[in-house]
Amino acid sequence: MPDAGDQGGDPLFDAPVVEHRNEIFKNRDLVDTDHVPDADRIIGRDEQIEQVAHEIGALVVGEPASSVLIFGKTGTGKSLVAKHVMGRVEAEADRRGVSVGTAYINCSQTDGPARVPRNIGRRINPPESGVKFPSRGISTDEYYERLWSILNQHYDGVAITLDEVDRLRDDSPLMILSRARENGSIDIPISIVAISNKIDYRNQMNERTKSSFGHREYVFDPYDANQLREILRNRSDAFHEGVIEEGVIPRVAALAAKEHGDARKGIELLFSLGKYAIRNDYDTISEEDVPKVREMAEAERLRDLITGLPAHSQHVIGALAALTISNSDEGWFRTSKVLDAYKKLCNEHAVDPVTHERVRQLLEELSFLEITESRNQHQGSKGQFNEHTLNKPPEIIKQIYRETAP
Ligand SMILES: Nc1ncnc2c1ncn2[C@@H]1O[C@H](COP(=O)(O)OP(=O)(O)OP(=O)(O)O)[C@@H](O)[C@H]1O
Ligand SMILES: [Mg+2]
Repeated sequence: MPDAGDQGGDPLFDAPVVEHRNEIFKNRDLVDTDHVPDADRIIGRDEQIEQVAHEIGALVVGEPASSVLIFGKTGTGKSLVAKHVMGRVEAEADRRGVSVGTAYINCSQTDGPARVPRNIGRRINPPESGVKFPSRGISTDEYYERLWSILNQHYDGVAITLDEVDRLRDDSPLMILSRARENGSIDIPISIVAISNKIDYRNQMNERTKSSFGHREYVFDPYDANQLREILRNRSDAFHEGVIEEGVIPRVAALAAKEHGDARKGIELLFSLGKYAIRNDYDTISEEDVPKVREMAEAERLRDLITGLPAHSQHVIGALAALTISNSDEGWFRTSKVLDAYKKLCNEHAVDPVTHERVRQLLEELSFLEITESRNQHQGSKGQFNEHTLNKPPEIIKQIYRETAP
């Protein structure tokens, strides 16, 4: 309930204010997956932390260090370990009077190759340098030139994390950065930590780039239920004492273990459980709430994902859901079948369908987002065709589509 101080306030903010002052959460950050937890909350990754530190650690004395590639499925602590080690490198170098710049770049948020040097430049550019990294008006090469000059003048070493590196449209930044010292662009040591959750990205990488990483690759294994239980238990002081009933953490951990050992899923579910308790005015969270809240949270996430897509992508997904439901023994559908179902839906919604070619593109984009999956099939002399399947529960998709279709 809002307290006296809120009376007369704008009711629009009642719910968010209540959610922030409550009997459930004591320290909400601990269940926020963007929050980087302190060292003592990182569970079961000591070996990986040591390995990465070992590769890039010489930077703290300004000596040449290696670059590394980190692979592993989503939610296995790759970004966490990289951020943690980078923080410690910077602090230790500082303590030793060595100036090491660190920059963390998420490549999924950068659209062209110029963004990478520009963002690194902006992160490490000291205010007194007088150099600018403007949003536009200079070439990619010029961004690199400015970056090299900042590094040469102000730093004894640099460590750059390129997270979700597979999302770069081309891997030129990877190549340029990893070879900058060798090519004489900079005269300080540079280490790159490149991270991907696509294990096959390794095979897509250009040989020269791979070799500049010296084939130093680490694969982070998914967490098992025991590790997840420990990670989650360590976050349980996000809640006030006594809020989480016995059995909740093991149940959440078991579910996250099933979802290929994804710690993020587990932490998100704890957060959703807390919000659910607040909304329903419960004092405690019980084991029975876990599967129910998980289903609700998954549906909510899917709804956000789907309603954020272009209109015709939504019709294509609606079509795949309808096909999947009416052909329960199949699951995979040829492009032509998806097209027919799509046109039928367009007709029902009185919208003009887009071209076949465009639907093919939309299917490609949907599979990139991992909402659907596509595969190429061969059929003897008849040649090849593509098939598509829905990666999400069709009933839930159908319901979302029914309620929100444009
Ligand atoms: N060993 C761990 N101890 C404590 N918390 C962890 C651990 N591993 C991961 N987490 C937490 O789980 C969430 C996901 O971890 P992280 O972002 O590092 O995953 P990732 O491997 O980078 O996944 P993605 O491939 O999706 O980017 C984060 O909130 C992180 O703090
Ligand atoms: Mg990550």
